[in-house]
Amino acid sequence: MLMNNQDFFLNGEKIALKGLEESDLELIHNWLNDSDVTRLLFQGDRPKNLGVMKEEFQNRIKSNENIEFAIITKNEKKIIGWAGLYEINWISRNGEIRFFIGEKEFWKKGHTTEVVSLLIEYAFNKLNLHKVWGGANIENVGSIRVFEKLKFFEEGIIKEGHFRNGQYYDLIRYGLLNKKEN
Ligand SMILES: CC(C)(COP(=O)(O)OP(=O)(O)OC[C@H]1O[C@@H](n2cnc3c(N)ncnc32)[C@H](O)[C@@H]1OP(=O)(O)O)[C@@H](O)C(=O)NCCC(=O)NCCS
Repeated sequence: MLMNNQDFFLNGEKIALKGLEESDLELIHNWLNDSDVTRLLFQGDRPKNLGVMKEEFQNRIKSNENIEFAIITKNEKKIIGWAGLYEINWISRNGEIRFFIGEKEFWKKGHTTEVVSLLIEYAFNKLNLHKVWGGANIENVGSIRVFEKLKFFEEGIIKEGHFRNGQYYDLIRYGLLNKKEN
């Protein structure tokens, strides 16, 4: 599939975001069945079924609470992961940022930092949200670094909130307020 700049909804320097499509789910299906990728996530606790994923995706996009994007490298025009805003509350005006790079050779290249900064800009300046937040397993150093680099503040620790790899892990939650409103 050939992609041009006009296919992108949000444009960064090295990556761009386009609305996630059902046809992108096969890639995600493969990543979620890769135990290296899901080692510190809730995802990957059971095999993923593509048919069920398609149904869940249709429900999510029909709901006003979720906005999902595929992450594309601008050089290779390759889909390397997905990200979005989830469980948006339009009264309290907040939503959860989630991100996932499934192509392991694209880790540690600054892509997620760029993705999350595009999502923050979108959430505050287009959707008029007041707050975004996110969470990670306390050992997910990459995710924690992304939140800290982008000046999220720590909101709290959920003690032993995640069981994986034969052990309980703490979870950490981060938030960011729309400073222009304060
Ligand atoms: C965790 C994850 C999102 C990080 O994405 P990424 O694109 O590699 O992140 P970035 O390149 O923007 O990295 C930001 C910083 O974290 C560092 N970092 C990233 N992964 C790291 C790791 N595994 N260990 C140590 N540092 C790491 C980077 O070096 C960079 O630091 P720097 O700016 O000081 O040099 C990605 O590895 C991923 O999606 N993993 C699988 C799924 C997952 O865990 N999703 C997140 C759920 S909360």
